[in-house]
Amino acid sequence: MAWSDTRLPTLLGIEHPILLAPMAGATTPELAAAVSNAGGLGGHGATTFAPEKLKAEIAAIRGLTNRPIHLNFFAHKEPPADGEAGPAMRAMLQALWNGAGLGTLPPAESPWRSFHEGQLAVIEETRPHVVSFHFGLPDQKLVDRVKAAGCIVLCSATAPAEAVELEQRGVDAVIAQGFEAGGHSGIFLSDPMQGAMTTMTLVPQIADAVDLPVIAAGGIMDGRGIAAALMLGAAGVQIGTAFLSCPEAHVSGPHRAALLEAREKATPTLLTRGISGRPARGLKNRLMSEVKALEHEAAPFPMQNALTRALGGTNDPQLSVMWAGGGAALSRTMPAAELVATLVAETEAALARFA
Ligand SMILES: Cc1cc2nc3c(=O)[nH]c(=O)nc-3n(C[C@H](O)[C@H](O)[C@H](O)COP(=O)(O)O)c2cc1C
Repeated sequence: MAWSDTRLPTLLGIEHPILLAPMAGATTPELAAAVSNAGGLGGHGATTFAPEKLKAEIAAIRGLTNRPIHLNFFAHKEPPADGEAGPAMRAMLQALWNGAGLGTLPPAESPWRSFHEGQLAVIEETRPHVVSFHFGLPDQKLVDRVKAAGCIVLCSATAPAEAVELEQRGVDAVIAQGFEAGGHSGIFLSDPMQGAMTTMTLVPQIADAVDLPVIAAGGIMDGRGIAAALMLGAAGVQIGTAFLSCPEAHVSGPHRAALLEAREKATPTLLTRGISGRPARGLKNRLMSEVKALEHEAAPFPMQNALTRALGGTNDPQLSVMWAGGGAALSRTMPAAELVATLVAETEAALARFA
């Protein structure tokens, strides 16, 4: 690796400062291990896993690689037990459920909990090299225990003030997640719908605001994007959408096809809290457009998921949730190891143009 900034490779024990974004539901042990084996850092979205499943997934990754791995959890505030979507949102979704033959819309409820003791016990036992959080950090006692287990701690920030708070609370590096990022925005200090700093504006401001290595995320699809992030002051990158088209990713048929057709069809992405209760970015389709129009009536995160998730089971591209970042149209299909090697070669070529 010819990149001069070696802070992340040193901190994380990896060769290239390229992190596979941990993506709940989309990353697999095979994808995470392939990225780690290729010299990046394989990540796995573990937030929905109960302790036994979490342990099994960590064992599965370790069965495929002995390199560092990264597990990720959500640290959102638990919603009130009586949270519910508004009447217009429920009526619109009931109509979609009827059309899909899914029956009566259930009450909104949380499909999973914020990072909890049971998951922490598995982390303490298995001690993965890196643990990250989204939507801010959990209670400081939990953070301290993750650190005491020897794990490097990362967390996403969507504004300089969030990065400063994360630094004060002891994270080892900050993920600067821009507005164009696929999936959920990790925003945690201000109104979730107000944060709108793009990767281009966010990365240099966070690099100036904290003394920690900054990992740029959001819209980075190829070596041009990685080189740009490095020039903005990032020490490395976290990439999600570009890995969704790898065969090792767990992505539905309609989602995979939509990613590959995004360039030809010029499919835009939309940010809405209508799918889960918090803002998240995905490819525009009928479901995204209809929930966006009523998103002020969404149930609190993550309860709204109970009203939208089953629609994806129909495999209808207009009703499936297809998380993707603003760079989706640059998607390419190749095995994850090949994608990492391609990204490294492209970054070196891009940087060489400025040498
Ligand atoms: C399908 C999908 C699922 C995601 N799930 C998670 C998650 O579970 N935890 C997390 O911290 N970030 C998650 N993210 C956000 C990524 O960590 C990262 O910020 C984002 O992918 C970067 O933007 P990009 O997709 O344009 O590369 C997800 C992103 C996508 C596309």
